[in-house]
Amino acid sequence: KSLVVAIDGPSGSGKSSVSREVARRLRAAYLDTGAMYRAVTLHCVAQGIDLEDAAAVEAAARGIELFISTSPDRESVTVGGDDVTAAIREPEVSAAVSAVATTMGARAELIRRQRALIAGAGHRIVAEGRDITTVVAPDAEVRILLTATEEARLRRRGDQLGGTQTDAQLKRQVTDRDARDSTVVDFHQAADGVVTLDSSDLDFEQTVAAVLGIVRT
Ligand code: CDP
Repeated sequence: KSLVVAIDGPSGSGKSSVSREVARRLRAAYLDTGAMYRAVTLHCVAQGIDLEDAAAVEAAARGIELFISTSPDRESVTVGGDDVTAAIREPEVSAAVSAVATTMGARAELIRRQRALIAGAGHRIVAEGRDITTVVAPDAEVRILLTATEEARLRRRGDQLGGTQTDAQLKRQVTDRDARDSTVVDFHQAADGVVTLDSSDLDFEQTVAAVLGIVRT
């Protein structure tokens, strides 16, 4: 039986870690769509492709030999056979990724691949990103917008990066990127039929439990 859990939300909402754990508990597959935007970004940078050149970015998205693991227990992304699992998390990629995310031709190609991955998992999957509840899988059995106050999101991302960033740096990385991303997808407002879950005052375990509670209703 099909069980697609679609989770969207801004940077630092806890989407990825929560979604991965929910997938484990449901014995479902897991898809981090942000990792795919990151992989295309890294590939463009490595190939010297101008990120402002929409046609070139779209061509890169279409041509990329991208593999992403959908096992919640194995985080793995490869491009052309090279393991880029760690490299796509580098700050240079985070800073550049919005350029790919705002190239509509590249989005169309990644959305197509994401739908194929969901089908490949037999429609038993937790998929997370910015446009899963609205565009990639609007017919998902469960659709959740995971939010948190800006203060909570900045704190989480700061902790994740080991307290190495100043407040100004964090704000640039989280708030400014969200502002750029919002120009193409609205992930601050829940679409019709999407349940909003505010995690500002919940810890990781509580957020996982809250998502599982929504899945079971
Ligand atoms: O760092 P964070 O976990 O917030 O981001 P991510 O989930 O790894 O996504 C990285 C970037 O990919 C986002 O900033 C968006 O620009 C883009 N993205 C998107 O446009 N649509 C998605 N469904 C997922 C990610």
